[in-house]
Amino acid sequence: MKSELVLVTGAGGFIGGHLVADLVKKGFRVRAVDHKPLTDWWQKQPEVENLSLDLEKLENCRTAVQGVEEVYNLAADMGGMGFIEHNKALCMLSVLINTHMLLAAREAGVKRFFFSSSACVYAANKQTKTDLTALKEEDAYPAMPEDGYGWEKLFSERMCRHFREDFGLVTRMARYHNVYGPQGTWKGGREKAPAATCRKVIEAKLSGNREIEIWGDGHQTRSFMFIEDCLFGTQKIMHSEIVDAINLGSNELVSINQLVDIVEEIAGVELKRKYNLSAPKGVNGRNSDNTLIQELLGWQPSIRLRDGLERTYAWIYDQIVTNAPCPIY
Ligand code: NAD
Ligand code: GDD
Repeated sequence: MKSELVLVTGAGGFIGGHLVADLVKKGFRVRAVDHKPLTDWWQKQPEVENLSLDLEKLENCRTAVQGVEEVYNLAADMGGMGFIEHNKALCMLSVLINTHMLLAAREAGVKRFFFSSSACVYAANKQTKTDLTALKEEDAYPAMPEDGYGWEKLFSERMCRHFREDFGLVTRMARYHNVYGPQGTWKGGREKAPAATCRKVIEAKLSGNREIEIWGDGHQTRSFMFIEDCLFGTQKIMHSEIVDAINLGSNELVSINQLVDIVEEIAGVELKRKYNLSAPKGVNGRNSDNTLIQELLGWQPSIRLRDGLERTYAWIYDQIVTNAPCPIY
């Protein structure tokens, strides 16, 4: 086992749960923290110190970072469009987590601090078309991010930058583009389009009701990154010399209609589509420009959407047929 202690916050969530599992596999000593009760974590590694702490509070952040050398700060109150459009204040309150975690990490002499930012920091006026030009890192300014959630992420990116410049804390930041995979929220309001689409297609298939509701007109575009690419890229960025926030996303652009086509193909069904034009839609188009990550790391996410969706679909199918719980917050 490696000697250094690594902290993962948001460890009861989707990406945090996978990251802890991966770090344990690699032989790290890990402390895993989330404010959810331990029974509601998606994954829990028995060999890890698992703590339920509310990281909006500074004293809990101090407890979390004790003796820690590296921090992956993933905790946030967030979800897909259905959540972030209706919970802007809650999303912005994650600024308490990020600010207190930075303060505590600096005090404790943490060696490296990773912050999971989002493609939601990008300016809305660069995402008005469905056949958009992929977003480059400089497209975050002049600032016009997603209301609530995007502003909080952009502000926290700047906090990371200033803690690095003024206090010498080594901070690293990735702008995740829509991440999907097994062992994450698939119903209840926080789920994102890939999990929601799998769930809806499976429910339609099992019930014999051959109809699916799609939010928006289905022409809006996105790119979706499979969790394994996210884990690899996160750890590469953490240990790189890349000091500015960098895209971590797939550049395989699809419309939401194409996403549904793929899931239908996996399920072996064809459903009648009903478009809900008053549902949360977000920007018209979003894609990741991977020029910089390719240049700096010689790598970019490459797992095909169809392959990642097959694995996600299979996991959600099991959840539904076994009536597994999906904790709702
Ligand atoms: P998630 O909701 O599954 O995990 C976040 C975890 O943070 C949850 O388990 C939640 O309980 C925990 N948390 C919230 N408030 C907390 C608090 N006060 N104290 C302690 N824990 C708290 O989300 P995820 O998809 O795993 O995302 C992880 C990170 O990546 C988040 O910062 C998110 O904003 C960012 N991100 C994710 C995506 C994506 O598509 N999944 C895209 C962009 C950015
Ligand atoms: N969630 C969801 N559920 N979205 C749906 C559904 C559905 O049933 N049907 C269609 N959509 C459409 C949404 O209207 C939106 O236009 C698109 O699918 C993508 O929605 P989400 O996956 O919810 O979110 P997003 O891509 O707009 O934003 C997400 O990714 C960001 C990073 O790229 C969010 O998770 C953000 O929190 C995240 O930072």
